[in-house]
Formats: sequence, C-alpha cells, structure tokens
Amino acid sequence: MLLNVDNLHVVYHKRGQAPVAAVRGVSFRIEAGASFGIVGESGCGKSSLAKTLIGLQKPAGGKITFEGAGTASMTAAEFRRYRRSVQMVFQDAVGSLNPRMTVRQTLEEVLRVHCLAAGTGIKVRVEELMDLVGLPHNLLDAFPREISGGQCQRVSIARCLALEPRLIIADEPVSALDVSVQARILNLLRSLQRDLNLAIILISHDLAVVRNICDKVAVMSEGVFVETGSADEVIKTPRHEYTRSLLEAVPDVGRALKQKPRMNTD
Ligand SMILES: Nc1ncnc2c1ncn2[C@@H]1O[C@H](COP(=O)(O)OP(=O)(O)O)[C@@H](O)[C@H]1O
Ligand SMILES: [Mg+2]
Repeated sequence: MLLNVDNLHVVYHKRGQAPVAAVRGVSFRIEAGASFGIVGESGCGKSSLAKTLIGLQKPAGGKITFEGAGTASMTAAEFRRYRRSVQMVFQDAVGSLNPRMTVRQTLEEVLRVHCLAAGTGIKVRVEELMDLVGLPHNLLDAFPREISGGQCQRVSIARCLALEPRLIIADEPVSALDVSVQARILNLLRSLQRDLNLAIILISHDLAVVRNICDKVAVMSEGVFVETGSADEVIKTPRHEYTRSLLEAVPDVGRALKQKPRMNTD
C-alpha cells in the first residue's frame, strides 16, 4: 500500500462567514504504481483534497498514511521526505514556472536545492529528464514564454520527476491545453506511470480525461466520493445519477488517446 486516505475532512474557516466543508469524509487507497482518477464538477472539492494530500492544507479530520506512516505523526525530516515523494502537477503550467528562468535553470535548480546531482552529473540528469518527458534538448535554453503550453507542462512534469517521486498528483493537468495536446500529455503521464512504476492521481472535471488512463476512478460530488470503481465499471454501469450526468458530456479525448503518441511536438 502506497497511500491510504481514511475519512478525510477539509474545512475552510473565514472570519464572519460560515465554515465551508470542502471535503467531507473521503477514503481511498492507492497501490504503488497504480493510477487513480478523481472526477467531479468544479467546486466539488478536488483541489482541496489534492492540496491536503501534499500538505498545503491541514485536514480537519481523518488520516493520511503514506508507505505505512501517518503524516500527522511524522517527524520534520520524515514529512520532508513525504513532500518529496508526493509531487503535484498543476493546471497552469506556464504560471507554475519561473518566467525568468530557462528550462535548463528550472531543472538545475531543483537538482541543486535537493542535492540530487552535482558537477557534471547535473547536466547529464537534466538531459535525462528532458528525454523522459519527450522534450528536445534544444529547448533547454528557452524561457517559458518561448515554448508552448504543452511543452511547459512537460517541463513541470520533468521538474517533479527530478525528485524521483512515488506519487504524482495531477490536478487538471490538461484543462488549459488544446485537445490534441491534451492527449499527448495524458499519454506521457500514462507511459511514465508504467515505465517508472509511478502512482498517479489524475484529477479532472472531465470523465473522458481519466477513463483511458486510470485503473480506478472515483466520482466526487459536494465533498464526497459518490461512486468508486474501475473506469469501465463506472462508465458502463454508473450507479449514481450524478455520474450519468457527467457521462453525457464525453468529448473526443478518448478517441485522440488511441492515436500513437508523438514526441517533441507540442
Ligand atoms: N482557500 C479557500 N477558502 C475558502 N473556501 C475555499 C478555498 N478553496 C476552496 N474553497 C471552497 O471549497 C469548495 C471546493 O473547492 P475546490 O477544492 O477548489 O474544488 P474543485 O477543485 O473541485 O473545483 C468550493 O466551495 C470552494 O469555493
Ligand atoms: Mg480544482
């Protein structure tokens, strides 16, 4: 068992306002190397759940266990290790990169800060990371504004991979991208998951995005998982009314995903 989430609650308190219960008792578990999709409409609590899993938000209740250790009782050093093992990819790929740093500087920085490579090892590792995400080395000296949104998302995935995580949480990683580029980024995530035995939590408002990638899917509504099952089960025999309504709007990403993945071309 890689990650176990038990009865997790997230509540926001704002002065003068009623508390907002964004996550209300969510439980699930993920094995090493597995892929788990979380689908639900905007505002249902997906990002709140993700932020809580990476420690940006304190849970109001419940328990997160990673590789057998509860996050609440980790020492500072253990928690730092956990924060490295669980990396997040965001929707706004361009915005999540420093506009003043080239691709090379972005990747070198993460390796230096975390002491993951030194000397000539840095250059070698940076090029390996570019290869892993299918980016040509001639983009190393480009700034984020000089490359496409899909390429920026590949850079932010490479920056995550630099830390050798066990789990990547991708929160709407393709929502800001063109449909054809979406499919290629999703294919990249899928092949990384398989090749690196990396677990992935893929979060989307769009069932079509998760259906071809994820072994298991949870449907989230108003802070709770209303349905969990294999992607096929959930899609073919939705038990919940809300899942049926999500299924009514399945666009063409599914078809695009079946195309052969192309490299270097976002
Ligand atoms: N920092 C915050 N402070 C107060 N309320 C928040 C905050 N972040 C999110 N919320 C509220 O929590 C609920 C869930 O939001 P969010 O987790 O962003 O959903 P999703 O990612 O599914 O769109 C929404 O009602 C949202 O308005
Ligand atoms: Mg969100």
